[in-house]
Amino acid sequence: MSVQPSRTAEAGRTGDAKPSPVDAGHPPDAAARVPQGLPTQAPSALVEARALSKIFDVSPPWLTRVIERRPRQLLRAVDGVSFTICRGETLALVGESGCGKSTVARLLVGLHAPSAGSVFFNGEPLGAASRSQQVARRQRIQMIFQDPYASLNPRWTVREIVAEPLRAAVRSGRPGVLSGTAAINRKVEDLLAQVGLSAADGAKYPHQFSGGQRQRISIARALASEPEFLVCDEPTSALDVSVQAQVLNLMKDLQTRQSLTYLFISHNLAVVHHVSDRIGVMYLGRLVELAPKRALFREPRHPYTRMLIDSIPDLAADGRIRTPVAGEVPNPLAAPPGCTFHPRCPLASERCRRERPVLKPPANAEEVLVACHAIEEKRG
Ligand SMILES: Nc1ncnc2c1ncn2[C@@H]1O[C@H](COP(=O)(O)OP(=O)(O)O)[C@@H](O)[C@H]1O
Ligand code: SF4
Ligand SMILES: [Mg+2]
Repeated sequence: MSVQPSRTAEAGRTGDAKPSPVDAGHPPDAAARVPQGLPTQAPSALVEARALSKIFDVSPPWLTRVIERRPRQLLRAVDGVSFTICRGETLALVGESGCGKSTVARLLVGLHAPSAGSVFFNGEPLGAASRSQQVARRQRIQMIFQDPYASLNPRWTVREIVAEPLRAAVRSGRPGVLSGTAAINRKVEDLLAQVGLSAADGAKYPHQFSGGQRQRISIARALASEPEFLVCDEPTSALDVSVQAQVLNLMKDLQTRQSLTYLFISHNLAVVHHVSDRIGVMYLGRLVELAPKRALFREPRHPYTRMLIDSIPDLAADGRIRTPVAGEVPNPLAAPPGCTFHPRCPLASERCRRERPVLKPPANAEEVLVACHAIEEKRG
């Protein structure tokens, strides 16, 4: 697969954990269960995440644990997340740093194996296919990373970088791909033109470009294998504000022209407002609200969504009564019981401290899903 992970992303991280003790409190079939209100497979769904979970083993080394009598430490980065993305749609995932957005992205492109749950692409589970089928399918799914410099090989020219997915497709024997240097060079020039770069840029190296141009190179590389689905993990967060809008507009333009489907990840709701059709709000590894963009900005329901929207100055001036929430995201290794948002929530009740809310549609809003007792009890 031509997805190149950021060189910085995994630094200092520990291994994946097999689902075990942390799952103890969950019923055995929890992984296969889809939260109430979610269709298992929308007719036009291209991508479906079904009860996706990821647990990382962040324990100290075995000897240290034995000497210091410390238990294993398992971090539940993603916890039963389900959603579908329809063809041509942009689903955005938002939430503060550490809430599991990038882990979801990596699960969707196959860079992490799920601890539980599954990803379906075109109705078929991602993992269950022969090696060659998986390679072919994964060329249809590409990822764009936050730091375009770290994800581009500094020793390769832009032409080599953009051509690599094409060469990989030739190597994998995918039918109908270009072959021959001249044809590949023409295709690379075409891809560079599509992202607003010139043919002459192909001979340069990544360090000769600005941040915005480097992200354009990443986009050209991602488009080379003619993907249907692009996972964009904070693609503009490292860019200056003025450049962000240009890259976002380019991405929207390409989506229309090439019928692309996007999962767009950002911690910034203002950016998400610009690009998305639907928005999923994540908190400590779980989806707490999933709604069409207009519904979410017109009437944010979950107290955490309200807090995020209240923090955007331009969008906050609508006369709605504000529910400012203080505090920080808790340590994921010691997540609060019940609703994990309760220590920060102005609407928290005794029930919130013991019972975890389930994602379900509130009254009179079937296209919205929200996980909140106060909303269910009509006191939010
Ligand atoms: N490879 C890994 N090993 C251990 N912990 C990880 C790994 N990747 C992510 N995490 C942890 O999982 C949680 C979610 O991380 P991440 O998905 O990167 O969140 P976000 O993208 O929303 O900032 C964080 O607590 C992070 O430290
Ligand atoms: S379930 Fe309770 S604590 Fe959680 S967001 Fe709703 S009201 Fe707040
Ligand atoms: Mg991230």
